Amino acid sequence: MNVKSIIFDAYGTLFDVHSVVEKCEEFFPGKGRQISEIWRQKQLEYTWLRSLMGRYEDFWSVTNDSLVFALKSLQLDSDEEIRMSLLNQYLQLNPYPEVPDALEELKIRNLAILSNGSPDMLNTLVENAGLSHLFTAVISVDQLKIYKPFMGVYQLGVAQLGVNREDTLFITSNPWDASGAKTFGFQVAWINRFNNQFDELGVQPDIIIKSLDELKAKIR
Ligand code: 2OP
Repeated sequence: MNVKSIIFDAYGTLFDVHSVVEKCEEFFPGKGRQISEIWRQKQLEYTWLRSLMGRYEDFWSVTNDSLVFALKSLQLDSDEEIRMSLLNQYLQLNPYPEVPDALEELKIRNLAILSNGSPDMLNTLVENAGLSHLFTAVISVDQLKIYKPFMGVYQLGVAQLGVNREDTLFITSNPWDASGAKTFGFQVAWINRFNNQFDELGVQPDIIIKSLDELKAKIR
């Protein structure tokens, strides 16, 4: 696999979205995992639904709305202060353990992030994790006001980096995002950390890895 540039998805790929569980547990003991699961699922659904309806709101808003849904659906009372405290966790999600070292090793190429996150969210997140120096660009869908897997979003990635899709490896943990990136014409690595099932959308990733550590041996 010949790769000149690598574009990463952010949430769930480089950063563990379930690092919010601990904070959720502080406010709602015993419910952290459930809140986090519903929160993430609804967050994604809202990005797709808003894109289809042509009613874009940025990812901070969508993440807030999906948190409200998660708490209500579990009949948990919350106030603005609790919600802000949980939402702010999104600015300090943990990178998966191998991520910083693996990025250092891959850095001989162009490395970039292409994410649904709003520019502020992404920049703060990457900076808080101490990873800013590793990326040539951190690209947000916000410029287009529509979410992945809209093809124009992947196009924005190549346009902004000035690269060819065929020479670019797109890495994501989200099967729907991998399917979108493959449809666009990227080389695609699906990072399947938790033995999940890939989607039935008529395309397959080029490679499947369990962590970024496996990548170096698979690309030239
Ligand atoms: C992203 O970072 C939401 O994981 C998705 O774009």
